[in-house]
Amino acid sequence: EKDGYDYFMLKEIAEQPKAVADTLLGRIDAQGALHLDEVRIPAAVLREVTKVVVVACGTAYHAGMIAKYAIEHWTRIPCETELASEFRYRDPILDQRTLVIAISQSGETMDTLMALRHAREQGAKVLAICNTNGSTIPRESDAVLYTHAGPEVAVASTKAFLTQLVACYLVALYLGQVRGTKWGDEINSVVGELAHIGTEVDTVLGTMEPVRELARSLADKDTVLFLGRHVGFPVALEGALKLKELAYMHAEGFAAGELKHGPIALIEPDLPVVVVVPSPRGRSVLHDKIVSNIQEIRARGARTIVVAEEGDEAVVPYADHLIRVPATPTLLQPLVATVPLQVFACELATARGNEVDQPRNLAKSVTVE
Ligand code: F6R
Repeated sequence: EKDGYDYFMLKEIAEQPKAVADTLLGRIDAQGALHLDEVRIPAAVLREVTKVVVVACGTAYHAGMIAKYAIEHWTRIPCETELASEFRYRDPILDQRTLVIAISQSGETMDTLMALRHAREQGAKVLAICNTNGSTIPRESDAVLYTHAGPEVAVASTKAFLTQLVACYLVALYLGQVRGTKWGDEINSVVGELAHIGTEVDTVLGTMEPVRELARSLADKDTVLFLGRHVGFPVALEGALKLKELAYMHAEGFAAGELKHGPIALIEPDLPVVVVVPSPRGRSVLHDKIVSNIQEIRARGARTIVVAEEGDEAVVPYADHLIRVPATPTLLQPLVATVPLQVFACELATARGNEVDQPRNLAKSVTVE
């Protein structure tokens, strides 16, 4: 059932173009309007929402961090993303006008389940974004948007993550459409781009050989750092998490702007640092700042591994290794930028002789708090 792949993880990485297309299936019509009929929360209720809170764990939490950028930008509703395991213990402020989004691949994660139970007890509406039909989290939620990624067998989450992102974008864009914001035109154009994002993911998958080669060359390293900004920050965290769980290496993700507030002290000659670079179009200020960060760490001898959009020439002089991804709207970049980091971690794990599909100490669904 691995379809000729050595590991389920490789198969699931390869399935991502289809998985994201399946998440979109039937949800965007020919006019670019979103149809999320499964979101049984009436439009009238969604128009009254004053706050969105996203709860999730691990990789799903990283999807939730990205959702925050999308929701706040396209809907102008304040949004916070919180680790499900922390959520109820801080007595969060929730009411009938709070929309809680619980993201979970398995639908059985106890931390996330306890968070959503707590939210519903306070009167909040809960929307689950989930991959497993009929699992506990959707059963206990007011509504569910299934990601339709198909079964994910490898413990490390890959296609579930990309489809969680697509589902989060759909919710953010839908909320924007339902409520009407000044970003109407942008929303329409992003919906158009989203509709063929599977092709972009496929393009990335076709260019991964140099990434695998690079990963193999780093098999004896102890540490890899990941930097990003804006939606690239959660991508950096996700790249680091994949490396920890699969390669058992010390890996950390930082917001690039935080570098100067401490982590830059970690930079030493030959340390591999992966940098996720935002598009030079759109948020170009951030792009220029991250290029300075790359220069700074390279001046201290780091080995820079730069993930940058096609056509971004400014990064070329400072990249020891350059990984190209197709140009996308800023907020959608995680869908293409995460893929090389998954491949990187998988190949490093293999090179280090680790069991890719079943990393030590981990279980696919975590049903204890
Ligand atoms: C990482 C990973 C975990 C899960 C987390 C939440 O690759 O798989 O971090 O993302 O345990 O699981 P779900 O999404 O099933 O709630």
